[in-house]
Amino acid sequence: MTYPIRCHFPICSMVATTFRLITLAEAAAAHAIEVASYPEDEAASLEQIQSRIQQANDYFLGAYDDKNQLLGFVNGTLTAKRDLEEDTMSCHDPNGKFLCIHSVVVSQAYRKQGIAKKLLKAYVARVVDKGVVSAILLIAKPYLVHFYISCGFTVTRLSPVVHGKDAWMELVLDCAEARQLNVVVVDAFASRPFEGNPAAVVVMSVGAFNAPGVEKWMQSVAIERNLSETAFVAPLSEDHIGGNEYRLRWFTPGCEIELCGHATLATAHTLYEDGHCEKYAPIHFHTLSGVLTTRYVLLDDNKTSAIEMDFPKVDKKDHDEAWLTSSKAALVKALDITPADIIAVEHYGPSYICHVTPSAYEAIHPNFSLISTLACQSVIVTCQAAADSKYDFVSRFFGPNVGVNEDPVTGSAHCALVPYWHHYLPSSPVNFTARQTSARGGDLRLRLDGSRVFLTGTAVVTLRGKMLD
Ligand SMILES: *[C@@H]1O[C@H](CO)[C@@H](O)[C@H](O)[C@H]1NC(C)=O
Ligand SMILES: *[C@@H]1O[C@H](CO)[C@@H](O)[C@H](O)[C@H]1NC(C)=O
Ligand SMILES: *[C@@H]1O[C@H](CO)[C@@H](O)[C@H](O)[C@H]1NC(C)=O
Ligand SMILES: *[C@@H]1O[C@H](CO)[C@@H](O)[C@H](O)[C@H]1NC(C)=O
Ligand SMILES: *[C@@H]1O[C@H](CO)[C@@H](O)[C@H](O)[C@H]1NC(C)=O
Repeated sequence: MTYPIRCHFPICSMVATTFRLITLAEAAAAHAIEVASYPEDEAASLEQIQSRIQQANDYFLGAYDDKNQLLGFVNGTLTAKRDLEEDTMSCHDPNGKFLCIHSVVVSQAYRKQGIAKKLLKAYVARVVDKGVVSAILLIAKPYLVHFYISCGFTVTRLSPVVHGKDAWMELVLDCAEARQLNVVVVDAFASRPFEGNPAAVVVMSVGAFNAPGVEKWMQSVAIERNLSETAFVAPLSEDHIGGNEYRLRWFTPGCEIELCGHATLATAHTLYEDGHCEKYAPIHFHTLSGVLTTRYVLLDDNKTSAIEMDFPKVDKKDHDEAWLTSSKAALVKALDITPADIIAVEHYGPSYICHVTPSAYEAIHPNFSLISTLACQSVIVTCQAAADSKYDFVSRFFGPNVGVNEDPVTGSAHCALVPYWHHYLPSSPVNFTARQTSARGGDLRLRLDGSRVFLTGTAVVTLRGKMLD
């Protein structure tokens, strides 16, 4: 009954940051950072900063800590010309289609913690999502070019701007290109490709996720991908870009569903892998099933990163003798076993759990048309694992009534299996290691805590792409 999870990231080493447009009242705080960061002849005066905030407020974004203290900012102005020259950078043209970034500054005490990168990414995400600007331009000293490339910019040329003795490089980020959505295909509950349960994850902007009629488009994407689930994820709001609060929806090729474990694992894995959110803090997914929390953890080798999901326990339903007799008889036929092979049959939420002997487990032959006649959404067949195995129990999941004859690895089934095994075993364990023995197969670490089941698994990215509309 091991639950070998070592640690998660110490919270003390990082600063929680949020990003929002700066207010006029914060001009003095911005000025203090400006003065501390630039030589006297380059730093803007308080009056200049106040007028920037008034004129180009949509393009003046601040980074704040959890006490609402300003840690840094990005400022930019619009221009009508695509090439950055001295004149295009000196004033704000409210009708300009090109955004010129002037500074990305983080206050001295908060540097070298990745705040500038998150701030610039959040800035770019907001601008791209608004759809007003066609390209974002900036000039940078050569030693900073790699920083801007890591935020999505590409180098276009040596800048004609002369400013001090150093050469300047011109960089650009094309907004139409940046609007193309990333799709990531992830094998969830897998330690290597082609294992576990695959899901597609579409990472969206706040605007695209909340667009009217988006459900129809999401359904089309799920049909096109034809995986058991396609997940759609976006920051909770503009102010949450770069943070750990997200909206999440799941679609099968047939419909939207209310809860999905493996696609949530796939989504959390994608957000961590692609640098969208922080590893040291949990992610909160706002879903049709309420807020689901996931956490980044390391397994006991201290190297393998895994994701722990906090899910609701599925409750056992009461049943009478008549139900038990008829269900057993139906399961004997549907699984091609004998009555003596069955140790217990229980009704948990939408599923029947059929606990069989280890030898019968190896010999079952599911008949999906017979399983589909049972008065449940799915049948979970389970048995205790061998004493010398690293697992506590194994299972298979059959759901012809929900469009999947056999599911490779099913997170939600374990929200029923965990309370079942907790009650069945005399020692009432709360920690389990389990394997779903489908053709692909996958491992889960499980923990029961009150009315919650914590499911932990690893995941592997197998494909990354861009959606071209
Ligand atoms: C903002 O941009 C202008 C250039 O238009 C620059 O002079 C100024 O230093 C930047 N910073 C602030 C805080 O306004
Ligand atoms: C979609 O997937 C299902 C189940 O895996 C399969 O039966 C079906 O043929 C697939 N459809 C297409 C168009 O590939
Ligand atoms: C993992 O890290 C912990 C704490 O740093 C340490 O006590 C433990 O020995 C490490 N385990 C392995 C397998 O390296
Ligand atoms: C499933 O059971 C039905 C009814 O007994 C039978 O007609 C059918 O041939 C079975 N299917 C398979 C694949 O065995
Ligand atoms: C279950 O696992 C948790 C988390 O690793 C651990 O703190 C707890 O002591 C374990 N409980 C038992 C009864 O082994």
